[in-house]
Parts: sequence; structure tokens; C-alpha cells
Amino acid sequence: MAKDALRVLVTGAAGQIGYALVPMIARGAMLGPDQPVILHMLDIPPAAESLNGVKMELVDAAFPLLKGVLATTDAVEACTGVNVAVMVGGFPRKEGMERKDVMSKNVSIYKAQASALEKHAAANCKVLVVANPANTNALILKEFAPSIPEKNITCLTRLDHNRALGQISERLNVHVGSVKNVVIWGNHSSTQYPDVNHATVVTQGGEKSVRELVANDQWLNGEFITTVQQRGAAIIKARKLSSALSAASSACDHIRDWVLGTPKDTWVSMGVYSDGSYGVPPGLIYSFPVTCEKGEWSIVQGLKIDEFSRAKLDATANELVEEKTLAYSCLS
Ligand code: NAD
Ligand code: LMR
Repeated sequence: MAKDALRVLVTGAAGQIGYALVPMIARGAMLGPDQPVILHMLDIPPAAESLNGVKMELVDAAFPLLKGVLATTDAVEACTGVNVAVMVGGFPRKEGMERKDVMSKNVSIYKAQASALEKHAAANCKVLVVANPANTNALILKEFAPSIPEKNITCLTRLDHNRALGQISERLNVHVGSVKNVVIWGNHSSTQYPDVNHATVVTQGGEKSVRELVANDQWLNGEFITTVQQRGAAIIKARKLSSALSAASSACDHIRDWVLGTPKDTWVSMGVYSDGSYGVPPGLIYSFPVTCEKGEWSIVQGLKIDEFSRAKLDATANELVEEKTLAYSCLS
């Protein structure tokens, strides 16, 4: 029997990530090839005409899984009944800015949209915040939507995770699909810590450690980390626009694995509400290694954290504590 359609909200849908993301959702890349969807697209009034153009294109593309499209500038209408909310609306950074430089513009959007989601989304709606500063926007959304379970509010660090897989795959000249279990710890910012200490490559002879295969700790502890940390800035420099297709694709990966489950013996990175695991202060949205089953994520426990990693986990946590204070000062 055909499944009932799920309602997926995309905010900022007239923007560049939105334009890449909505066709991916309509093709089943987010919720599966047998899951019909109804898209709810929200943007602000100056973008209403352009948003309507995106709606026209979605109709013209005749996607078999797409059972309806709502294009609106009304947050309440957009949030009503949604099962999944992908929060992309906001302002991207430009060359030379850090992601927290867009804080004052963006956190107030997340405070305002928290209550629309809390009051009008479907029960158990899963929320993914993409707009920067992603971790802190998600935290503000959580704090101003207290009745949404904290497990349902996450932010996107899957793009960083995928970037780390990509760098290892290029370095070893192996397919990216054979590299797994990198971890992105912390903030989606230049303090994030891409950790390969537990990463492996699946070969015909079994799994081999990335550290052994690369056999160059200087690269792994230096250039690899900075390349992943600075990849967003490198894309902005090259495109004069921030990443869009990779962000959209990673947002699909995030929700797909959360809803449908992670592959066996594989974890992914998600920005989730810290419960104090790995000595990370509780009460932050922090990127951890997680596995997902039956629509629930759990932090992978028991990974060994050496001294080098400890300092990096703490530095990115400290930045998130500072960002939280800054966010509240922008809201007051
Ligand atoms: P964009 O400027 O092309 O699009 C953003 C859209 O949001 C615009 O159409 C704008 O009108 C809309 N918008 C602004 N305020 C809104 C509001 N209150 N409600 C609804 N919509 C609103 O930007 P983009 O390139 O699509 O990037 C969007 C955000 O995602 C930026 O903050 C960017 O930095 C961030 N981003 C995050 C990641 C990640 O990995 N977490 C990756 C790439 C980009
Ligand atoms: C990215 O990582 O590509 C995005 O967060 C955009 C940015 O500002 O870096």
C-alpha cells in the first residue's frame, strides 16, 4: 500500500541552498524512493515572486513523489502540520567573515520561528537547522520552543563530515563510499575538530585504519584538519557564494540517516543537544558521532580521546559557550 505523504518544510526556499534542496527532496533523496512528500516552502516577502517561480518549476518537473507544494511568506502557514523542518532561511556569510558574524541577523529569525514550529508542526517533527551559525541558531530554536523534545532539534555538520570523507578519499585514491567513521566534533565553524582516529577504509581484505593507510601524521594532524575547517571559506572564495549543492545533499543525508537509520557499524556526525558525553558541557548543540535507529539518534560512546583531541574538543566547546552568550546579547 502507498505510504501517506510526509510534509517537509524548507525555510529560505527561494535561496541558493533551497533551490538545490527542494528537487532532491521531491526525488526521494531525503525520505526514500517510496515516500511521497508535500513541500512547504517559506521565504520572506521580498523573495515571494522568486519563491513562486521555484514552485512553478517544481510543478513543471512532474516529480512522481511530490504530492503538493505550498509556497508562502507566512511562518504559521508554512509550519502547520510539518513532519520534517529544514531551516535554511537566513543570511549567508561573505568572503572574509566568520560564520558567527551573521549571528545578529540570524538568531532573531530562529527565536521568532521557534514558536511557529512549536505551536503548529506535527507532533514529533524532526528539525534540522542549516543556517549559520548553525549550532547556535539550533540552540536558540530549542530554548524558545521548550515543548519540542530536545532530541528533535539538530544542526547540520554532515557537510563537514562528508568533506572529511572526501579529503581522505582523495588522499588515498579510494572511493569515498569506502571511507567511514570520521567524526566532526563541536561547532560548524573553523574551530570544529575533524577526527580520523577511529576512521577506516573498507577494503577487500577487511577494514584498515585511516591513520595506518595515510601513514603521515603530520598531514592528518595539520593540513587535513585545516582544509576541512576552512572548506566553507574556500568555496566562498572560489564561487563568490557559499556552498549550496553540497549543503543541500548533506542535509538530505542527515535527515535520511536520522529517519531511516545509519548503515551497520557506521556512524555519522550530527549537531545534537549535549548530554555531557565526552566531557562536553551539557546544554550546547555540539557535533558528535551518532548512530540512528527507528528515528532516534544516539551518541556513540566509548571512543578513546587522546590529549591532542581533548584540547580540540574543549576549544570548540568553548567557542560554543561564547556564541551562546553573544546570541543572547543579540536578542536582548
Ligand atoms: P541565500 O541568501 O541564497 O538564501 C537564504 C534565503 O533565506 C533567502 O531566500 C532569504 O530571503 C531567506 N530568508 C531570510 N530571512 C528569512 C526568514 N526570516 N524566513 C524565511 N526565509 C528567510 O543563502 P544560502 O546560500 O541558501 O544559505 C542559507 C544559510 O545556510 C546561510 O546562513 C548559510 O551560511 C548557511 N549554510 C550552512 C551550511 C551548513 O553546513 N550548516 C552550509 C551552507 C550554508
Ligand atoms: C559552509 O560550510 O560551506 C557553510 O557554512 C557556508 C559558510 O559560511 O562557510
